[in-house]
Amino acid sequence: MTEHQALLRWVREITELCRPDDVYWCDGSAAEYQAMCQQMVDAGTAHPLAPERRPNSFLIRSDPADVARVEDCTFICTPSEEEAGPTNNWADPDEMRDHLRGLFQRSMEGRTLFVVPFSMGPVGSPIAHIGVQLTDSPYVVANMHIMTRVGQPVLDVLGREGRFVPCLHSVGYPLRDGQADVPWPCDPNNRYIVHFPESREIWSYGSGYGGNALLGKKCFALRIASAMARDEGWLAEHMLILKLTSPEGEVQYMAGAFPSACGKTNLAMMRPAIPGWKVETIGDDIAWMKFGADGRLYAINPEAGFFGVAPGTSHKSNPNAMETLHGNVLFTNVAQTPEGDIWWEEMTDELPEKLTDWKGRPWTPESSEPAAHPNARFTAPAHQCPAIAPEWNDPDGVPIDAIIFGGRRGDTIPLVQEARDWQHGVFLGSIMGSEKTAAATGNLGALRRDPMAMLPFCGYNMADYFGHWLQVGQAEGRQLPRIYHVNWFRKDAQGRFIWPGFSDNARVLKWIFERGMGRVEAIDSPIGKLPRPVDIDLQGTELSTESLTDLLAVDAAGWKREIALILEHYEQFGGRLPDALWQELAALEQRL
Ligand code: GTP
Ligand code: SPV
Ligand code: MN
Repeated sequence: MTEHQALLRWVREITELCRPDDVYWCDGSAAEYQAMCQQMVDAGTAHPLAPERRPNSFLIRSDPADVARVEDCTFICTPSEEEAGPTNNWADPDEMRDHLRGLFQRSMEGRTLFVVPFSMGPVGSPIAHIGVQLTDSPYVVANMHIMTRVGQPVLDVLGREGRFVPCLHSVGYPLRDGQADVPWPCDPNNRYIVHFPESREIWSYGSGYGGNALLGKKCFALRIASAMARDEGWLAEHMLILKLTSPEGEVQYMAGAFPSACGKTNLAMMRPAIPGWKVETIGDDIAWMKFGADGRLYAINPEAGFFGVAPGTSHKSNPNAMETLHGNVLFTNVAQTPEGDIWWEEMTDELPEKLTDWKGRPWTPESSEPAAHPNARFTAPAHQCPAIAPEWNDPDGVPIDAIIFGGRRGDTIPLVQEARDWQHGVFLGSIMGSEKTAAATGNLGALRRDPMAMLPFCGYNMADYFGHWLQVGQAEGRQLPRIYHVNWFRKDAQGRFIWPGFSDNARVLKWIFERGMGRVEAIDSPIGKLPRPVDIDLQGTELSTESLTDLLAVDAAGWKREIALILEHYEQFGGRLPDALWQELAALEQRL
């Protein structure tokens, strides 16, 4: 338990506001996890999978109206609109607080309020931070058990007056006057995912899904943490972290920012297609990075589990993920086989004859809709990954040698390019574009600017965020990582991916590694430094040198169209955009 008076007072206050029937303090134990799962089974929320196929695992079907992050309903409440910036939804903090108090009033009637103390990062690590989530959803509690470190040790570190981020969550479906529950309670017409970066608070109402509801993840570890990082001189980023070992046993650590559903989990867990090279996983979604006394940038993965995209995951594309999923997993919105196991699109070469789809309806290969929702997810403990690096839990983090940006782009953007220097690298990150995926609701495939893969996750004005990145690179005595931009998603005239991707992405990682070692040359081009095609190891692929040359070519016409889009993107920030980035854009235009 705790003697933290501010925490106790806050829990009392919220209890009075939300009027739950019970208050339960989570201890993070295995028994508690089992109790949450049992409660979900009893409520019809979760369905146990066949224990001989998928031990201790459950299938959960959400309400079809609550299947992804809702960016339209996500707010940054800074004192002025300017501080939130043009890429965020802003609301006045006082007005929003009033509105939220109205929504939360009696919102937990008939339910239990769970108090979930959690640590983002190893408990007690100097890079870690603590949050406490209050929620009325056992699904959220079970997920938080896997995704974060929950329980008494966290309260012990917090002590009597340690700092924590209050994270209030309700599904917004009170059970008044004996009203019956539904399997996935939510309030899809009244969703509010609200952040107060000044006071470091989160209020989330109406959704039970993913980043809307597991508040340690995007809300805390990115939106709130990005504001903390700005104030304290570090970086909170939407990045995977991997360890790459060469056949000679040399090691480099790389961090990679790709927008949602653009390949972070896959890259972090990859089994390289080139013999002798090894990738090990540190993290698959979020990196907190601070400079050490030696001037290097050290990264930790603040999470303890993977909340990964299920569709597309297979023994072929990501065998390490498939092995991670052997048991102890929560599957949300996947399809179920008649044998009581799970299935999703592209998991197997052959389609199953018969399934139950994510909405619980019979499905056959003739069905017109996919069996699993495109944003179906698995929640699995990180330590179950066969490729997890022994140092993934190291409280001091790992030193980052290279930062990789990448979007989903069918044209123009080359397979890989290297930034000339830190400032040019920040420029490359700031102009990132990507086609929209199913990870958030909205129009699939539409090209949008997603700087550093942080568009939906930056807790303050994006122009100031660029300024923060530039500033971080200017301090004395820093050994900055090199910055790269990659694109696995170029398409040919028939609309097929040209680059094989997945395990073959190791060929690009190898080039980045060799650049870091100073063992290969790069060619200067108008857009950045490019590999000589001979330096990309193609042994064992069917890709022709011709296709590779295409993937590495500078498409001048495409880049000119791109510049018009970048201009539009930059202009929204007005005078707040750092001059250095305007200069980079002008220099690019001139070189082209
Ligand atoms: P979030 O968890 O939403 O942040 O996503 P993520 O960035 O971790 O993406 P993930 O690795 O889960 O991949 C998402 C989708 O992209 C899956 O359907 C993958 O099969 C597909 N994908 C990943 N890597 C590649 C690649 O190298 N090439 C191609 N063509 N597709 C890929
Ligand atoms: C993403 O959308 O980038 C995710 C999934 O990692 S969610 O937790 O829903 O944000
Ligand atoms: Mn993500």
